[in-house]
Amino acid sequence: MQYKIPRGTQDILPEQSRRWQYIEQKAHDLCKRYNYQEIRTPIFEQTELFARGVGDTTDIVQKEMYTFEDRGGRSLTLRPEGTASTVRSFVENKMHGWADQPAKLYYIGPMFRYERPQSGRMRQFVQLGVEAMGSADPAIDAEVIGLAYDFYRELGLTNLKLVINSLGDTQSRTKHREALINHFKPRIEEFCVDCQSRLEKNPLRILDCKVDSEHELMSSAPSILDYLNEDSITYFSKVQKFLDDMEIDYVVDATLVRGLDYYNNTAFEIMIDGEGFGAITTLTGGGRYNGLVEEIGGPTTPGIGFALSLERLLMALEAQGIELPVTSGLDAYLVTMGDEAKQVAPKLLHQLRKQGLTVDGDYMDKKMKAQMKAANRQNASYVLILGEDELNQNSVMVKTMASGEQELVPLDNLVQKIKS
Ligand code: HAM
Repeated sequence: MQYKIPRGTQDILPEQSRRWQYIEQKAHDLCKRYNYQEIRTPIFEQTELFARGVGDTTDIVQKEMYTFEDRGGRSLTLRPEGTASTVRSFVENKMHGWADQPAKLYYIGPMFRYERPQSGRMRQFVQLGVEAMGSADPAIDAEVIGLAYDFYRELGLTNLKLVINSLGDTQSRTKHREALINHFKPRIEEFCVDCQSRLEKNPLRILDCKVDSEHELMSSAPSILDYLNEDSITYFSKVQKFLDDMEIDYVVDATLVRGLDYYNNTAFEIMIDGEGFGAITTLTGGGRYNGLVEEIGGPTTPGIGFALSLERLLMALEAQGIELPVTSGLDAYLVTMGDEAKQVAPKLLHQLRKQGLTVDGDYMDKKMKAQMKAANRQNASYVLILGEDELNQNSVMVKTMASGEQELVPLDNLVQKIKS
């Protein structure tokens, strides 16, 4: 039997994992600067959390969840996104009682969706997500959007397009919902079965349908922006003003509705233009979710956040030819000659590592020449040659790889020599 990796997943091999580590570190650093703190929640949760949180008319909940029963008969689901879990944790741990509000949290971790795999669409992917809960200040919307935007810009990406929209507050949405039902109802049988069932449950979802996207009623559908009440208009214009002040360019697109149910007021996506990126151009999605904490059993608490996948980010970096400053290499490689030197090697390597040096040696009983080649392949700055002569003199022959120079260095001075 030949085992194969599951469809829509990938192995990240060492050459790639260096790039992953680099962008993960960037994410940690950036979130720290914005004063967001890391939260780690389980990979699986009660299924009901996502059905309620993400919304049971969404594609995610209807078609894409990895749901299973555990041995105790509980229905569990591999998390398809991180917001519902973060909000669950917020409620469970009573973070609304924290002295500092909003609670500013972020996470980096794998998410699972049973989607049709293609480039940029995986069944297991890693999201960086940011959630701020407890503040209804439009400044925090701008902060969250700014954080996502800065992340891409600091990594050197260009041709980014930030698209924003307002989905309005409950009152605005109720009016818009009625208008959508009236608009689609007379010809709903021309739409796919999913849309037909969405009509009464969640007509906004119809606008996001991939099957019916070309239908003439789509482009003439009532725009949410025409149904925003005074409060929603004021809120949206404040978010825009803050983005202007921060010199972040954006376009307003009234058709942006997002694929999850919990949004209201601000919704946004960051897309990327340009060749080499294929059909999938959305790098980040997010928005405000003022009703979600309550929906999940907590006190009325506003929230906003976003998530982006590191897979799509890496694709974008590659498409734009951006090299990340990742290096691999050793400070030193220990080449041993003869049995006695071999016996001393583990202790010497251990001492050097304890001093903070990145070192390796031979475990394959290679000849000296082959050991030298290994040192070269592994980008060692120095080769430390240890044979009988060196042992007798309590020293090591140190070869500087860049210049080819060799020098006999007493063991006591070795660390200093390498560090210099
Ligand atoms: P989402 O739009 O479903 O939102 O996903 C956010 C991002 O995750 C996408 O823009 C994309 O970068 C990435 N993504 C989604 N599905 C896949 C996939 N199958 N393969 C690779 N990347 C993918 C959310 O998940 C919300 N929780 C975002 C949010 C946080 N809203 C508020 N707070």
